[in-house]
Amino acid sequence: MIVEIEGVPLHLAHPDELSITWVGQEEVMRQLLAAWLVIDPQDLPMNPRLLGKPGVGKTTLAYAAAKRLDREVYIMQATADTRPEDLLVTPVIEGEARLRYVASPLVTAMLRGGIVILDEGNRMSEKSWASLAPLLDNRRYVESIVAGIKIKAHPLFRVVATMNDDASTFDLPEYIHSRLQPMILIDFPERHEEFAILRENLPFGDDHILNYVTDFLQQAHAADERYTARDGINIARYAIKLKSLATDRTHEQQALETAVIETLGEEALRYVRRNRPTTS
Ligand SMILES: Nc1ncnc2c1ncn2[C@@H]1O[C@H](COP(=O)(O)OP(=O)(O)OP(=O)(O)O)[C@@H](O)[C@H]1O
Ligand SMILES: [Mg+2]
Repeated sequence: MIVEIEGVPLHLAHPDELSITWVGQEEVMRQLLAAWLVIDPQDLPMNPRLLGKPGVGKTTLAYAAAKRLDREVYIMQATADTRPEDLLVTPVIEGEARLRYVASPLVTAMLRGGIVILDEGNRMSEKSWASLAPLLDNRRYVESIVAGIKIKAHPLFRVVATMNDDASTFDLPEYIHSRLQPMILIDFPERHEEFAILRENLPFGDDHILNYVTDFLQQAHAADERYTARDGINIARYAIKLKSLATDRTHEQQALETAVIETLGEEALRYVRRNRPTTS
């Protein structure tokens, strides 16, 4: 699709279509939806950021919330190499001495009234963030130096940034911090929620394996270990595969322990419930 801005044709990106459901933890969902809400003609939406450990569900929550609003969702993966033009408009050579201007997922969302997830935003340099400064305050526009145009955000445009809660997150300058509020922290889920997350992601897994992995995760959370639902899903998924090739019933315990070790390393075994008879 092509949209013309100030006489410059922009080629738009495609929205992301994922089958993602958010399970449990309704409070953070409510906070995110509230931040995006506009309650008066004079009101403005906010630009929330989701914080939490890797694998705790930040991208999942952002996507699921955007889908609840029935909007197009664009995921913009940020890295240390993301340049301002990658965030906005990139020129692509098209035939002889002709340039085609390609809109980023973010600019596409701005033009179409969609929602953009600036994923892993903490990895991005200050210079790239600086190009978004006018978008993230009441001006709601960006300026593409490359295409020589100013692009205004559709009133329905919304943005959310996700960031890991490690040290790199706090390297951002103050003027960016103050534009990415509120900060919504995703914490570890309760036991019944964690089980439901495993069940949602592994509908074919048997209860015993999912319960075992839920217990493992809950023990790890109690010790403030960085293991998350993603690790649990990997452990359970692998254990299910290992077990399917096993011949003996006692192999389930073995499958689970192997899955823990080969997902997170030997040290993770300390959170495992051992119900085998001990010999010593
Ligand atoms: N509440 C939840 N409901 C459904 N699935 C969840 C939930 N929380 C976590 N998950 C699952 O856990 C996995 C990791 O989630 P996700 O990728 O969103 O984490 P993240 O915080 O974005 O991680 P990273 O920091 O590495 O990007 C996904 O497979 C996701 O489906
Ligand atoms: Mg993520």
